Amino acid sequence: MSSYHIAVIPGDGIGPEVCKATVQVIKLALPKSIHLGFIEYPAGAAHFLSSGVALPDSTIEGCRNADAILLGAAGLPGVLYDDGTEAGQDTTLRLRPELDLYANVRPIKLYKGIYGPLKGDPAIDYVIVRENTEGLYASRGKGIVEGSISARDTMEITRKGVERIVRKAAEICMQRNGAPDDGKRRVTICDKSNVLRSFAFFRSIADEVLSEFPEIEVNYALVDALSMYLVTKPTYYDVIVCENLLGDIISDLGAATIGGLGLADSSEIGDQHGLFQASHGSAPDIAGKNIANPTATILSGASMLEWLGRKHADKLLLQSASKIRQAIATTFIQGNTLTADLGGDASTTIFVEEICSQLTLQNS
Ligand code: IPM
Ligand code: MN
Repeated sequence: MSSYHIAVIPGDGIGPEVCKATVQVIKLALPKSIHLGFIEYPAGAAHFLSSGVALPDSTIEGCRNADAILLGAAGLPGVLYDDGTEAGQDTTLRLRPELDLYANVRPIKLYKGIYGPLKGDPAIDYVIVRENTEGLYASRGKGIVEGSISARDTMEITRKGVERIVRKAAEICMQRNGAPDDGKRRVTICDKSNVLRSFAFFRSIADEVLSEFPEIEVNYALVDALSMYLVTKPTYYDVIVCENLLGDIISDLGAATIGGLGLADSSEIGDQHGLFQASHGSAPDIAGKNIANPTATILSGASMLEWLGRKHADKLLLQSASKIRQAIATTFIQGNTLTADLGGDASTTIFVEEICSQLTLQNS
């Protein structure tokens, strides 16, 4: 019997709903010989309103001591610090550096049965590897505002930061089957090196690291051009590596091409810790209505099982993750139980029940 302890932060808006759905699906997918203990911790904008703190130290410690962290979503648009930034974002934005979650891995894959906005529904399947601990986000809370005259935030790019994120991108590339277009293993370095020195530095270190991987074709893309190519020729891409803010932006763009943020799987991992939450926010406009699409969080939950499975050489966890992915894929192919964002009329509950019945069919 193996046992793992998962810290769960339900958070704000639709966070608690999508977390609950994910825990339900994971429990059903696991064999009896694996026990996952889920312990909830508070954090987020609502917690800030009631306690004055968005991310309590006890939550950070709970996350540090857990085998993995599952997060619903955190932040509410109107709940701000005096500097105008969102208080609830402390949840994610402080956990990333605290736990050194340097790699934000975001697969962008169009499922069969899902009709994205692009003509001909191309076979999109690439991974964005977003640097998650430095870049422009490193300036959060440290930017300088000079009265009503000017404001400044500084981008930080370090050799260590680029080396480890590019190495992670290369490793992910070596585990995949290449780009859908031509089967070539390809890492695209996305930056704005034609304008800023920090990005030229990023590119030069990325080049150095990728020269250690002769099997990988190196591709360069400026972020503005890439934003167009992800729409016009998404199947050319295999793995894309980039700075933090650029990764934040292109991951929403990528998500739009595969049916929206409700489907966008995401893992935030370091050498010790792993945090799993969808790329989307807390969507307060649809919270509590039982209409949210929990797929992105469920897929991130599957990624959590894969990460734990690889870390602990536990095949049963890997099998459980693949069962979950299969159950979702089948539900989409059948196409009669989809949430409203995908053009269906199923509630969150009905959608989750369908995934659970697919899992039960696999178990029988
Ligand atoms: C993401 C989100 C976060 C970010 C927010 C919630 C702080 O947009 O994970 O992409 O900006 O990184
Ligand atoms: Mn984002």
